[in-house]
Amino acid sequence: MSTHIIEGKKISDQIREEIREEAARLKEQGIVPGLAVVLVGEDPASKVYVGSKEKACTQLGMYSEVHRLEETASEEELLELIDKLNKQSTINGILVQLPLPKHINEKAVIDAISVDKDVDGFHPVSTGNLVIGDDSLLPCTPAGVIELIKRSGVDIAGKHAVVIGRSNIVGKPVAMLLLRENATVTICHSRTANMKELAKQADILVVAIGKAKAIDSSYVKPGAVVIDVGINRLPDGKLAGDVDYEDCLDTAGYLTPVPGGVGPMTITMLMGNTITAAKRANKSKG
Ligand code: GUN
Repeated sequence: MSTHIIEGKKISDQIREEIREEAARLKEQGIVPGLAVVLVGEDPASKVYVGSKEKACTQLGMYSEVHRLEETASEEELLELIDKLNKQSTINGILVQLPLPKHINEKAVIDAISVDKDVDGFHPVSTGNLVIGDDSLLPCTPAGVIELIKRSGVDIAGKHAVVIGRSNIVGKPVAMLLLRENATVTICHSRTANMKELAKQADILVVAIGKAKAIDSSYVKPGAVVIDVGINRLPDGKLAGDVDYEDCLDTAGYLTPVPGGVGPMTITMLMGNTITAAKRANKSKG
């Protein structure tokens, strides 16, 4: 069986073009979506991510500001900044880059972000709205997974989706989104007794466990859609997903590569959330 490779970069570029056009339409109405990114400390990976977010905003015609705080900044200082950004009308989205230094309570920080500006979709109210099925800003990586599946022409409704991993940032929200798309959803995790048996029943298999090449073709039903959310650094410096890509070729019907699969979607969905937040903010004004 020949496997369709889901080209995340290509799909992400298409969506960015749509976002750029939408931003241009909003500009004609005097609306410039604005994103504030907050970086605390000097984590090298975080610095790269923040730079990419800033660049994406500029390329798509959106406003961005980056607030860089010292590693030693206090939680109070960070909460004061968030309070200021919550009130700032030029800012529609606030993203605090994680992880934060250990002396800062991550939950207190996430909870302080205005739900209307929660473009990461990490606030408990955003999570609650997602579960209930009310309008909310969706967590970026899970929303990207759904877009990749849909834009590959796969109908989710009625399918059996198996999610491996139950993290708050990927596994749980992706399961909720698949349910919202009318899939029948099974969530597997480290304590699941018969994971392989369950995974083999999946029409759609989403893997987010953070373990390089943990899922090989023996977990995959022939023809299944396999979405690999993992990004792991191998000892030789190369990147690998949670799925053994080579091994799953010719078994999976659809497969995402790493890099170039889910990865490029995350920032794109963040840009989409910022547009959505800007539209909502301006609607409520009128
Ligand atoms: N660190 C790694 N990924 C993310 C993300 O999606 N959002 C935030 N805020 N921090 C991150």
